[in-house]
Amino acid sequence: MVLITRVLGLLGLALAHALPLQSKLSQKSALGLVEIQHGSYFVEFHSEPATPACEEEHAQFIKQIRVAGINVHMRNSFRRLFNGVAIDLLNGSQLQRLAALPTVKRTWPMQMRSRSTAIPSSNVLPNLMFAHKHTGVDKTHKELGLDGTGVKVGVIDTGVDYLHPDLGGCWKTPGCPFQFGSDFVGDGYDSGTTPYPHPGPYPRDTCDGHGTHVAGIIAAKGDKVKGVAPGVTLGVYRIFGCPGNGTGQAADDVILKAMEAAHSDHMDVINMSFGGGSGWSEDPLSVAAARLVRDGIVMVASAGNDGANGLYTSGSPGLGVGVINVASFENWMTTSLSIDLIGRYSNMSIVHSSPGNSKHRFVFELPVPVVAPTDSAGSNEGCTSYNSRFDGQIVLLKRGNCTFVEKAAHAQDAGAAGVMVYNYDSELMSPSSASANLTIPLVIIKAEDGQAIIDELKNGSVTASATNHTMSVANPLGGQVSHFSSWGPDPELQLSPAVGAPGGNIFSTFPLALGGYTSLSGTSMASPYVAGMAALILQSRAKKVSTDEVRQLILESAHPIADKNSTGLLSPLRQGSGLADIWDAVSALAIIEPPQLSLNYTVAGDVRDSVRVLTLHNSSPTNFLACTMTHIAASSVSSYMTNGSFAATPRIWPESPQTHASRDTLPNAYIDNSTLPIRVAPGASQEISVHITAPTGLRESDRWFYSGYLQFNLLWDDEVGTARSLHIPYMGYLGNYTQLDVLSAPDEGFPYISVKGSTDTLGDDAHVTINGTHRVAVHYRLEHPTRLLKIQLVDDANVTQGYLPRGYLEYMGRNYQSSRGHYSNSTINGTLYKDTDLTKATDLENGMYRVRIDALRPLRDPQDPEGYQIWHSSRFIIDSVSLDKNMTASKLNDDKDIGDKVFQP
Ligand SMILES: *[C@@H]1O[C@H](CO)[C@@H](O)[C@H](O)[C@H]1NC(C)=O
Ligand SMILES: *[C@@H]1O[C@H](CO)[C@@H](O)[C@H](O)[C@H]1NC(C)=O
Ligand SMILES: *[C@@H]1O[C@H](CO)[C@@H](O)[C@H](O)[C@H]1NC(C)=O
Ligand SMILES: *[C@@H]1O[C@H](CO)[C@@H](O)[C@H](O)[C@H]1NC(C)=O
Ligand SMILES: *[C@@H]1O[C@H](CO)[C@@H](O)[C@H](O)[C@H]1NC(C)=O
Ligand SMILES: *[C@@H]1O[C@H](CO)[C@@H](O)[C@H](O)[C@H]1NC(C)=O
Ligand SMILES: *[C@@H]1O[C@H](CO)[C@@H](O)[C@H](O)[C@H]1NC(C)=O
Ligand SMILES: *[C@@H]1O[C@H](CO)[C@@H](O)[C@H](O)[C@H]1NC(C)=O
Repeated sequence: MVLITRVLGLLGLALAHALPLQSKLSQKSALGLVEIQHGSYFVEFHSEPATPACEEEHAQFIKQIRVAGINVHMRNSFRRLFNGVAIDLLNGSQLQRLAALPTVKRTWPMQMRSRSTAIPSSNVLPNLMFAHKHTGVDKTHKELGLDGTGVKVGVIDTGVDYLHPDLGGCWKTPGCPFQFGSDFVGDGYDSGTTPYPHPGPYPRDTCDGHGTHVAGIIAAKGDKVKGVAPGVTLGVYRIFGCPGNGTGQAADDVILKAMEAAHSDHMDVINMSFGGGSGWSEDPLSVAAARLVRDGIVMVASAGNDGANGLYTSGSPGLGVGVINVASFENWMTTSLSIDLIGRYSNMSIVHSSPGNSKHRFVFELPVPVVAPTDSAGSNEGCTSYNSRFDGQIVLLKRGNCTFVEKAAHAQDAGAAGVMVYNYDSELMSPSSASANLTIPLVIIKAEDGQAIIDELKNGSVTASATNHTMSVANPLGGQVSHFSSWGPDPELQLSPAVGAPGGNIFSTFPLALGGYTSLSGTSMASPYVAGMAALILQSRAKKVSTDEVRQLILESAHPIADKNSTGLLSPLRQGSGLADIWDAVSALAIIEPPQLSLNYTVAGDVRDSVRVLTLHNSSPTNFLACTMTHIAASSVSSYMTNGSFAATPRIWPESPQTHASRDTLPNAYIDNSTLPIRVAPGASQEISVHITAPTGLRESDRWFYSGYLQFNLLWDDEVGTARSLHIPYMGYLGNYTQLDVLSAPDEGFPYISVKGSTDTLGDDAHVTINGTHRVAVHYRLEHPTRLLKIQLVDDANVTQGYLPRGYLEYMGRNYQSSRGHYSNSTINGTLYKDTDLTKATDLENGMYRVRIDALRPLRDPQDPEGYQIWHSSRFIIDSVSLDKNMTASKLNDDKDIGDKVFQP
C-alpha cells in the first residue's frame, strides 16, 4: 500500500511510482510482516535512561565487547529515551555471546518503518477545507482565532519542502515557521538497500513529498491549502531518504535519534506518520514514544494502513502508552478531473480517476464519439478482442473479468482513442494500467455515470470531451472510516486506535519540484490532522495543560459514527473514540478520566459485570455541572467465522442493519446509584461508578470483542461551554482470552515441516540429510500476536534436544492470512542451542526427531508451562549432518523458504 508518488506536470496528476512487487508486498503489511534490518540490533542495558548508572553502563559495555572479542559496528548510542546502543554485528554467530554480556538486558532485532500513506489519488483541488467544516477546525479558526501560534510541532518524516510558499518559504530565518530540525539520513538512505545514513545539511524534501504533505495538513497557510494550525513553529526531522529502487524504509535507530533530537528541541507535539513494527507496546519505539509523553510531549502517530488484514493491525509506535494513534476517515468531497458528455437528450459532466502510472492522459479537446460495444465473447467487459473497429472513438467498458491493461489493449487494437471503465460502485479507484505497449489512456468512472451513458446511447450518439478541468463531487464514503485504516486492539487487550481524523482523499502541499500539490490517502494524513488539533488545544490553554489532558480532550469530544453494516455504532476497535472535533475539544469545560476503557475478558459463569470508576472534573470556575449517562452499544467483532475459521475481514454482530438483536446479545451499561446524582461544584471532581455488562447471549466459542460508548450528557446550571456530551468507548473480550490459540488451526495447513525449498509436508518417518544446502524448514502462521515463541527439536521420547536458530522469538506480530505466502519459518541447519539466550550451540546428531513449537497464549506468564499452545510435527529421521561452520548472520537470514515473508534473526 505504500506507493511513493511524485507529481508530474502542471496539473498535479499523481504519478504513482510503483515499487518492485516484492518490496511493495513487504512494506504493505509491515506489521504482520515485520521488516528487519539484517545484522542490526538494539542492545538494551539494565538501568533506566537518563540516569547516572546509564552512562556507566555504556562505558562497561565497550570494555566487555573488547574483552569478549566481539566485532561490532556501532551505529548509534542512546541515553535519553532508551538506554543502550544500536549496532551491526560483523559476525552473526556472536549475537549469542553479546546477549550474554553482563551489561546487556536484552537485544532487539532492528525493525524498519515505512511511511503510512496508502493510495495516491488523482484529486487536484483544495479539499482539506471541506474536511475542516466537519471537524470544527473552520469554526475554531474563525470564532476563536486559534492557529497554534507559540506551539512547537515536530514532524518526523521525509523532510519538508520548506521553500514552498504555502509553508513559509524560509528556513530558520527570524519569523520563519521552520526553526528546528535537521536531516538524519540524506537523499540516498534506504535501510533496505543503503543502510548507512549520510545526512545532508538541510532536511528539505524535494524528492518524496510525504513529509511536505503532512506538514501542509498541520501548518499550510495558502489559498489552496490551509492547515489545521497554520501558526505553529515547526521542527523538521528527516528520517526517510528519496524513493529509489529499494524499500523506502527507515531503521528504528535512526528514528530514535530523531525522537531524541525533537525531545531536546522541546517540541510540544510530535507527529509520526509511519508504521510497521511488531505491534506491541513493549517495542523500543513504542517505549520511547511513551517516555516522550511522560516528559510532556503530545505524541501523535498513524494507526496504520492494514485494515484489510483485520484485527491487531494497529502498529507501533502508536501503541506506546499515552500516544494518540489515529485512524483515517474519508473526506466528504473529492475533486477530480472531469469529462463533458453531450447526448441527444441530455448533457452531463462526470468525474474520473486515471492511473498514476500512465503517461497517457485522458485529454480530448474536441468532442469524440463514445461507443459501448460487446467484445467477441459477447461481453461488455472487453476481455476479448473486438470484431469491429472504433477508430478514434472512446470505448466504454464494464470493470471486471480481466485486467485494465488487457481491456485497454483490446480497445487499442480496434483503433480506439481512449477507454472509460465504469466501476462496480461509486468509488473512483486508481486503476493500474502501466504497460509499455499501451498508447491510449484509460480512466475509471462511477457505475451510475457508466449506466447513464449507456442509457443515453440508446437514444442516439454521445460525444465526450475532456480537458484539465476539475469538478468537486460528494464522496459517497465521506465521513466513514477509510477501508485501509488499521484495527485494534493491541495484543494485551488495550483499546486501539485512539481517535479518527480525515485521512482519505486529502489535498495538501507537495514539493515544488513535484508539482506543489497533490491528494494522498492514509493514516499518515489523519495523524497530522490531530497533531494540528493538539497544537490548537495547547494554544487555547496557554500550554497549561498536561499531555494526558490534551489526549482526553481530543478523545472525549470526538463523535463516534454508526456502523453502516450493523445496528448501533461502529466498533471502537475501528474508529477509536470517533471523529475528532476540535471545537468541542477546545471549548470543553469538563473532562473525564480515563478517556477509554479496556475491559478485561469475561467468562461464562462469572458475573458479566465490570465496575469502573470514572472521575468527572468540572473545570468551570463558576458553574455547577450535572450529568446523566446514555449507553450506546457498538457492534461486536470477531476474527472467526461461524465455522471457527479465521478471516481477515472481521465478522460483526448484529450482522446487518436489519438484524433484530435481542437485548442479551448486546452489552449494557448504567451508573451505580451509589454515585448518583452527579452534581459537581465549580473546580471540583466527582467519582462515577459505571457497571458495564457483557452480552450473555453471544457464544464464547465465537470469540467476540463486544464494545460500546458511554455518552455523558452535561447539564450546566447556567449554559456554559458548547460541548454537550463526552464519549467514553469501552471494549472487552467475551471468553477466556488467555486460552486463545496463537498458531493457526491445522486445517489451514500450518504449521508444517518440509525440506527447505519445497512446500510439501515431510511425510511420517521421512529420512533427511542436513548439510550446507540441504535443510529442514519449519513453517508456521501466527493467528494471534505472541509474547514468546519457542521452536525446539525433541527426540522420540519428547525430550528437548535444543532450540533451532531463530527458535526463541519475543514479541511477534500476527501473520496476515490474506495469502498462503504469509507465514514465518525457522530452519534446522545442524546447530541446536541448549539455552533460551541461544548462547550454547551444540551439533545436531543423527536420530529420530520431531519439531515442537511452544507459542505463549495471550496475557500468560512465560514461566508457566501451561501457558503455551504446543504443536508437534510428524517424526522424521536425520541420517547425516554436516555443519556449515561458516554460517554468518546474513547467510542465516538468507536461509528463508518459498513464501517466507517474515523471519526474525
Ligand atoms: C490546462 O491546460 C491548458 C492547455 O492545455 C493550459 O493552458 C492551462 O494552464 C491548464 N490549466 C491548469 C490549471 O493547469
Ligand atoms: C533504479 O534502477 C534502475 C534500473 O535498475 C536504475 O537505472 C536506476 O538508476 C535506479 N535508481 C536508483 C535511485 O537507484
Ligand atoms: C472473461 O474473459 C475471458 C477472456 O479473458 C473470456 O474468455 C470470457 O468469456 C470472459 N467471461 C465473461 C463472463 O465475460
Ligand atoms: C508488448 O507487445 C509485445 C509484442 O506484441 C509482447 O511480446 C509483449 O509481451 C507486450 N508487453 C506487455 C507488457 O504487454
Ligand atoms: C460493510 O460491508 C461491506 C461488504 O462486506 C464492506 O465492503 C465494507 O467495507 C463494510 N463497511 C464497513 C464500514 O465496515
Ligand atoms: C483479568 O481477569 C483475570 C481473571 O478474572 C484476572 O486474573 C486478571 O488479573 C484481570 N486482569 C486485569 C488487568 O484486571
Ligand atoms: C438502585 O437502582 C436499582 C435499579 O435501577 C433499584 O432497584 C435500587 O432500588 C436502587 N437502589 C438504591 C439504593 O437507590
Ligand atoms: C482462564 O484460563 C486460564 C487458563 O486455563 C485459567 O487459569 C483462568 O482461571 C481462566 N480464567 C477464568 C476467569 O476462568
